[in-house]
Amino acid sequence: MSKAAIMGYGTIGSGVLKVLMMNRELIKRSAGDYIDAKYVLDLKDFPGTPAEKLITHNIDDIVNDPEVDIVVETMGGTNPAYPFVKKCIEAGKSVCTSNKELVEKHGQELLELAKTKNVDFLFEASCGGGIPVIRALNCAYVADEIEEISGILNGTTNFILTKMLKEGAAYADVLREAQDMGIAERNPEADVEGHDPCRKIAILSSVAYGKNVNFESIYTEGITGITPYDMEFAKKRGGAIKLIASFREKEGKYYAMVSPFFVSEDNALCAVNGAYNAIYIKGNAVGSTMLYGSGAGMMETASAVVADVVNAARGTGETKRVVWLPETLKIEGIDEDRRSFMVCVQSDKVAQAKEAFGAAESVELSGGVTGLITKEMSEKDFKAASDKVGIVSRIRVK
Ligand code: HSE
Repeated sequence: MSKAAIMGYGTIGSGVLKVLMMNRELIKRSAGDYIDAKYVLDLKDFPGTPAEKLITHNIDDIVNDPEVDIVVETMGGTNPAYPFVKKCIEAGKSVCTSNKELVEKHGQELLELAKTKNVDFLFEASCGGGIPVIRALNCAYVADEIEEISGILNGTTNFILTKMLKEGAAYADVLREAQDMGIAERNPEADVEGHDPCRKIAILSSVAYGKNVNFESIYTEGITGITPYDMEFAKKRGGAIKLIASFREKEGKYYAMVSPFFVSEDNALCAVNGAYNAIYIKGNAVGSTMLYGSGAGMMETASAVVADVVNAARGTGETKRVVWLPETLKIEGIDEDRRSFMVCVQSDKVAQAKEAFGAAESVELSGGVTGLITKEMSEKDFKAASDKVGIVSRIRVK
């Protein structure tokens, strides 16, 4: 029988205990034996909860207990998660984590350490919540050169953008509503500024390409600069604005970006609404594929963590098969990236803007503003033209 410990009894950690208890018999069938939690490590005591009798405040209780062979890390952040996880792996325990910051910063090192100790370091729940994307990249896509991974990797911002588009609501109002519903954090910065999907695309591309992708090297824009004109324009054109995290390979060079994009109705990402996530993966043999599901939430994320726990208990040797070298993958700058832009200008500047952006189409919006779609141009040329004309706002077109 496997004994597990859960470090961090917040939303995900309590979900993990719940799934372990709720699906105990099923888990026995899948893993070959029962997997019960023996400890819950947290600063608090949680009286009256299922964790009450399992609480410890001392990491060494877990590290020094030979009965515990699998540790779940759902603390978040890197301190003390990183030293605690390291200690557990060094003590010969498998670790399953939902912590994207830990994986993005220390994943490569912890994976190597786990390999040397002959245990697992699994992190399915760090990207896309309940969507099995890491396991898919490590298993189902291994016959392919991955050409692109692009997706909606943040449920909070997708919820906000969906409401803004469908209800014409203002950003600040929808954010407040999302916070009241518990969808957005009280401090929403990591989500709305795009750092959360940036970390996730860095992890996914590190796994897909087998080398380190630093999240600091990825150009990132969040959703806070999106104007009501952008939303009105997107609606009139028949599409949506989505925060997309993307990573592409082209002729041996690598390009990455997190930014709001206009997606037209015929793009499958346009139909991904609310707090859902979707990940488009293009391989050189398989072509275009897409994974879809709940990218966040207690039970959805806990499902992915517990699946890792079951796989660790099965001893499938999954970690040994993951290639993630310490070498860093160089990401190209965005200046030469080419695309069209959806740009809003004061209506008295339409003629000048049409010439500067090579735009044919224009759509009148409210408040004396006009929307234009530019020709395909480089980021650098677009910026130069925007500075010359003076624009109200712009959104990249996917
Ligand atoms: N804040 C994240 C989201 C949680 O909204 O997607 C899951 O990582």
